[in-house]
Amino acid sequence: KLTKLDDIVSLCKRRGFIFQSSEIYGGLASCYDYGPLGCELKRNVRQAWWKAMVQMRDDVVGLDSSILMHPLIWKASGHADHFSDLIVECKKCHTRTRVDHLTDKDGRTAEESGGEPADTKDKVCPNCGTVGNFTEPMAFKLMFETEMGANADDRMTLYMRPETAQGIFANFRNVLDTTRVKVPFGIAQIGKSFRNEVTTKAFIFRTREFEQGEIEFFCEPGTDDQWYEHWKQQRFDWYVSLGINPDNLRMRDHAQDELAHYAKGCVDIEYRFPFGSGDWQELEGIANRTDYDLRQHQRGMRSINDWIEAGRDLTKIELKEESQDYHKGPLSYFDEQQKKRYIPYVIEPSAGIDRSTLAFLVDAYDEEELEGGPRNLLRFHPDLAPVKAAVFPLVKRDGMPDIARNICDGLKKHFAAFYDEKGAIGRRYRRQDEAGTPFCITVDGQIKEDNCVTVRHRDTMVQERVNVDQVLNYLRDGMDN
Ligand code: GAP
Repeated sequence: KLTKLDDIVSLCKRRGFIFQSSEIYGGLASCYDYGPLGCELKRNVRQAWWKAMVQMRDDVVGLDSSILMHPLIWKASGHADHFSDLIVECKKCHTRTRVDHLTDKDGRTAEESGGEPADTKDKVCPNCGTVGNFTEPMAFKLMFETEMGANADDRMTLYMRPETAQGIFANFRNVLDTTRVKVPFGIAQIGKSFRNEVTTKAFIFRTREFEQGEIEFFCEPGTDDQWYEHWKQQRFDWYVSLGINPDNLRMRDHAQDELAHYAKGCVDIEYRFPFGSGDWQELEGIANRTDYDLRQHQRGMRSINDWIEAGRDLTKIELKEESQDYHKGPLSYFDEQQKKRYIPYVIEPSAGIDRSTLAFLVDAYDEEELEGGPRNLLRFHPDLAPVKAAVFPLVKRDGMPDIARNICDGLKKHFAAFYDEKGAIGRRYRRQDEAGTPFCITVDGQIKEDNCVTVRHRDTMVQERVNVDQVLNYLRDGMDN
């Protein structure tokens, strides 16, 4: 029996939501392209995130920083030295696997069976099935490297950013100096990140190029616990407000030994994805990063000359020690009211745009048995639906196509609408059900008598007659509820 994920993957392909990247060349592993419906869906996910996190709040501002950044940023953040996965290689087929992704013959990871992660004696190679035949664990660097500059004196190794967060820390001073923000405030950013993941997974869940939506929320030390709780709730509620069934969501606090050394607390919002042995998988992480990043970047800023002298080679330098009065440094904040200078603490909600798009797809997917056969549909929240309304003439005569086109053009000024005159009306409805379109509007011959069209609701299939002049308001009301 196919899992639900297989059904979703095939619907995504069939209806133009998501394709394998470079498919005509045989595909590129773990990279995906969003087709006409998929890019609308993902754009709506981004937009919903931005609206709730930036537009609707007075205390968060936006940013769009570049993907390529000064290499020292990755030294200061710790990524250059520590951003790696522990892997083993199968001695028989040479497949490399993340130690924590290896499973025993019952499909359980070390975490699930309560064993030590580094103990691979009972673990199965996911490629050739050999048991316990692995090398010692070794670190595998996850950042993609590239070169910048043509001449020997300005050439350097750069990294594709593995998270958008560091672009925010690097602009903390700029935002403070050019806007009127006061702590507590946040900087939000949506953008691409890149990780040379060892094991990719389940469609767009874990890919090597992906989009993140991250907020670094700066607050006064001592108020951080309260802001941490605030963001946990806000982020959980965001998924629910866009239609995710709360039964499929949970918060999982990281155990003390799971926490990064600088983090005071971290919680994952997990979604019950239809794959993997445990099903519950991370959707988003929310961390209390303390003042670690800003302090590290102050050290990075002090190390620029060392880096130049080392021939712009990160591997040849150590960061300068922190100065004694670091709390007065260039990335500190002066609180006018309290006449106090400090390095703010940071609460970081970090979401995956592609991963939440997958969760929205999974949660919206439904199959119904109807008299005329099965119906597949995506019950998207109207804000996320790629197309909000489809407009059909019942038949291609008696002026119906012109009227339908007119209605569709009118709606397009307000939201994505789609005109379709091909095929039997029932099939047109089903196509829109699969695309997740909340409303279908059909123009039939009766319009000449009552100036009304039929509006069909995706979820209930209920049909109502609505006056042409009222269609826009009617749909808007329907989308608000
Ligand atoms: N700045 C913190 C940070 O990047 P993370 O837990 O590594 O934290 C945050 O990533 C979120 O980004 C994850 O919860 C997930 O939604 C998304 N993400 C991370 N790696 C991903 C990948 N390889 N493919 C798709 N999404 C990914």
